[in-house]
Order: sequence, then C-alpha cells, then structure tokens
Amino acid sequence: MKKIIILCLLLSLFSCGLLEETNSSPDIADTPEELYNQMTYPEVIGQLNQMEWNTETPTTVKQHLLGSLLAGGGSSPTSNTPQAWLDQYNSLQAAAMSTRLGIPMLFGIDAVHGNNNVYGATIFPHNIGLGATRDAELVEEIAHITAIEVRAIGFHWNFAPCLAVAQDERWGRTYESYSENPQVVSELGAAAVRGYQGTSLSDKYSVLATIKHFVADGGTSGGTNEGNANMDEEILRSTHVFPYIAAIDAGAGALMPSFSSWNGEKMHGNDYLLTEVLKDELGFSGLIISDWTAHTQLPGTLHDQIRNAFVAGVDMFMTPYVFLGNEMDDLMNPNTSTSQAKIDEERIEEAVVNILTVKYDLNLFDNPYKDNSDLYLIGSTEHRAVAREAVRKSLVVLKNENGTLPLTTTQNILVAGSKADDLGSQCGGWTITWQGGTGDTTIGTTVLEAIHNKSSNVIYNATASNLTGIDRAAIVVGETPYAEGDGDTSNLDLTTRLTAQDKTAIKNLNASNVPYVVILFSGRAMIASDEIANSDAFIAAWLPGTEGDGIADILFGDYSPTGKLSFTWPDSMAQIPVNSTDDTYPSTEYLYPFGYGISY
Ligand code: GLC
Repeated sequence: MKKIIILCLLLSLFSCGLLEETNSSPDIADTPEELYNQMTYPEVIGQLNQMEWNTETPTTVKQHLLGSLLAGGGSSPTSNTPQAWLDQYNSLQAAAMSTRLGIPMLFGIDAVHGNNNVYGATIFPHNIGLGATRDAELVEEIAHITAIEVRAIGFHWNFAPCLAVAQDERWGRTYESYSENPQVVSELGAAAVRGYQGTSLSDKYSVLATIKHFVADGGTSGGTNEGNANMDEEILRSTHVFPYIAAIDAGAGALMPSFSSWNGEKMHGNDYLLTEVLKDELGFSGLIISDWTAHTQLPGTLHDQIRNAFVAGVDMFMTPYVFLGNEMDDLMNPNTSTSQAKIDEERIEEAVVNILTVKYDLNLFDNPYKDNSDLYLIGSTEHRAVAREAVRKSLVVLKNENGTLPLTTTQNILVAGSKADDLGSQCGGWTITWQGGTGDTTIGTTVLEAIHNKSSNVIYNATASNLTGIDRAAIVVGETPYAEGDGDTSNLDLTTRLTAQDKTAIKNLNASNVPYVVILFSGRAMIASDEIANSDAFIAAWLPGTEGDGIADILFGDYSPTGKLSFTWPDSMAQIPVNSTDDTYPSTEYLYPFGYGISY
C-alpha cells in the first residue's frame, strides 16, 4: 500500500511539474540493436503487442511487458478532461518504466482532425474539407497544432494522415480522404507528415505520423469498407500507391496497412506490397502497425494469422483486448518446443528494432513522462483561429444567384435547419466518440451562434414558418455523424437525410420570394440536385469542426470563398463512381467537376 501512495505522490508531483523530467533509464543501451540483444523473449514479445489503454492496467502492462498502448476512437478516461488523460498516461507509462529494462511504451491515438477524442480540443475540418483548400502550408500548420494538443496529454503517436484516394462516395470513410485525385492527396499528405513530425521526433511538439491505410483503402468495389480493390497493378500504383511516395520522402515514421484486399488478397498478409514494394522499392524503413485486430481477418489459425502478417511486414500488432503472447512464444521463442515452425530471428530483430528505433527517436527513454505545462494549449484561442481559417478555405460555394450572398448585417435573416445549432454534426465522426454524436458534444461555435456573432438581426425558425419581413434565409442540413463502415451507404440522396422540419422549411422557402442559401454538412458529395436547383445559393461545408465562425465569415463576405471541389460532384447514384482520374473524364456525366467552386 505504501508503494502505491508513494507512486501516486510522485505522479501528482510530476503532473503538476514540480518534479523535473529526469532521465528515467540511466543505464539504457545506446542503440536499439544493443537493447534488443539484452532482451528476453517475453520482453521481445511484449514489444510486439499494442493494447487498449482503457482496458490495461499498470499490473497488466508489467505482466505483459507491453510495447505500446492505444486510445481507440472515443477511448477517453472516465472523466474526459485533459488532466485526466495526462494522469492516466503517466500512470501507465510509470508501470512500463518499472520493468527490468525500463522500456517506455508508445501511446497511439487517432487525432485525425485535431486531438478529437479530448473534450475541448480544437477540432479542424475533416480531410475532405482540407482537400478543398488545396493549401499544403495550412495542412502542415494544422498537423503541427494537432501534434501540440496530442503531446500536451503525453501521447506522441498519431494514426494519421490517412492517404486514401477515395474513389466511391458510398464509402463511409470518404471524408478521411483529401481527394479523389492522387496528386492532391500526395501534396497534402506529405504536408501533414511534416506538420506532425516537425524537424525531429525528439522535439517536444512532434508526434510520430502514421500513413494509412496502405494501400487502396479508398479503391474498393462499391466503396465497401474493408472490401476488395479490384484493379491492375498499374492503376493501383498510379492512383493509390502514388501518395505514399511523397509521404515516405517526407519521413513518415509509421505506416498502417489497410483492412481491405487487393484482388482478393488481404493487405495485412501481402508481403509483395508490404515488403517488396513498400520497403525494398519505395524505401519505407519505419514501423508498421497493424490495424485493429486486422490480422484475424487473414486465413488460418491465430498462429497462421500472426505468422502471415508478421512475415509480410507487420511489426507491431494492434490487438486491443487479446494479448498474443502465447502464440508469439510458439512462433518465435526457440526455447519453446511446439509444432509451429519458428519465424526467422532476423525478422524478429528487424521488427523489434523498428519499434525501439521510434522510441529512441521520440526521446522517450529520457523523457517518458509529461507534465501539465502544455494543457492550456488544448483548444487555445490561437489554435481555434487557425481552425477558423481552415473552415473558411474549405467551404465550396456551388451556387450563388439572386444576390443571395454575401449577407449583410442590416438584413433580417432567418436561420433554419436541423444542423444549424448542432456542433456534433458540424464535427462529424471521430469526435469525442468513435462515431461522433449530435448536439453539444464538445466546446465550439455552431453556425447559428456564429451568425448571431455577426448580426443581431437573426432569428432561428426550424421550419421557416414565418418569413414576414425576412430578407435572407440560411438553412443548415446534412448527414448525422458516422465513422468507418457505419457510414457505408448505397443511397447518397440528400432528401433521405432531411428531417421533417427540414423538408417543411425548404417547402416554405421555395414558396416564398426570400433568397436562401443551403449549407450542407456532409462527409462526401451527395445527390442534392433538387435542393441545389431550388435554392438560390448552396455551400458544401463538409465537416468543418468546432469553428463555425469560419462559415459566418464567408456568409457575410468578410472573406471571399476560395474552396474548390477535391471530389467530382455526381448528379445521380448511377454516375458513381465518377472521378477526374477516369480515362473518360470529363465527358462522363456529373453535376460539378473536380476543381469547381465559385467566389464572390
Ligand atoms: C480503426 C481504423 C484505423 C484506426 C484504428 C485505431 O479501425 O481503421 O484508421 O487508426 O482502428 O483506432
């Protein structure tokens, strides 16, 4: 009991910065190779396992000698406060540091549009909106700010950027893709890597970037999440491998294979692509982390699955709830007699050295703990100002007629729509929880609040039932949040996402002479031809995040819209998939082409 009290006292002293971050591994080996040679097989095997931080405890961390923990989507401490995140981080890291060799753990998180699990963090537009900015410098700055807000809670490994080149809007992860165009993804993906990793991983505000999901996660038939990408190698390389070249050149330190398959073979077991192409040809030399239990999707027994993924190139297994120690001992420990053929020791050393190298690069041996000195930066005014700029630049104005936009502060403005005052829908998935949620899920400014911030002549009327004396109207509609396969759909018709009140409001507006603008929150282009035709103005706002003021900046003309579609906008489901990379483009059918967007 006394030990626990001392440990808690030490941790509280740490977290309030009273104790200097000391060198906690005084006699650690100088190189990963040297350290590897000191390790027992249980220590080796522990490094290959990444488990869920809300399930593991200091006891199980020590028992399994774990190499890493992750906070899965929405996996926050009981109280979702930055301090609670930091305390849990330091407590679990202290357990790892107390083991024989004192090897610090890597802590990974999905901070895909800001440090989005943490309540109060700055939430940026999702990648589809950043793609519409075409602004690599801005993307780099956003990644740097995200790294600051990740490091503030101790974490130092981001499972981002996603380099998907989404080809089919039916895919639930379309919004995690910058563009249908590999060149746009390449430029912005490399910028994100630079922003996350900075000039050195040892810098206090750098985090390890993870380029994902290799490869052709966004190229599956029908946009099916974790589905099959059916294409020849030339298309695979020119469309889906292409962005990884620049990202690797930018120094990406980690990579995550895709759940999906290429021509029927699961990526997690594809040694041609994971080793011959990725490592030997493209020169990737970082850490390969599997996706969430993805090895279990490979054929055969658990032993077979682990062996196939490991030999193909996976170094560390994201195995949130199942420690793979027994199977790995059978497969790797020469002193364990089993029927399993042993994996070459050379491959085992390569994987462990890849893992340890990242820990050395991040300077974790000397600085395993984090004090609370940076917590104030989470959701700071300065960070939110950059997010607001990103929102402005991400909006794509598809239509603006009858002098609808910009609005003025002398006009009487009516705001309608189910998403007008819904911060959760404004942020989308991967926000506070894995799937995201509706309503006041975190700290931010809704569109309605932002319009009120601009003008006092504003009323909210969900159904636009009284338009007397109204000069302009804005109706905010769209998708409710989703993530991954939960967002897969065969129907992108916006009409099916409208609430009854939305439909009534649109009906009333169409029956009036009041010029109105539709603001659409969506993770992808939608089939909205009727709504676009009937409105006077239409803005694709994507999933802009917490800073709704950026939308009002454009609505009121404080800034002129500059966003350009990074995805072709279809006119009907029958046209999907339709991409500017198609040989037949631009003669194919669509409503608005890649690159479209109007200004004032
Ligand atoms: C998810 C996603 C991946 C994410 C990982 C950890 O299933 O496929 O993008 O990084 O699990 O949350």
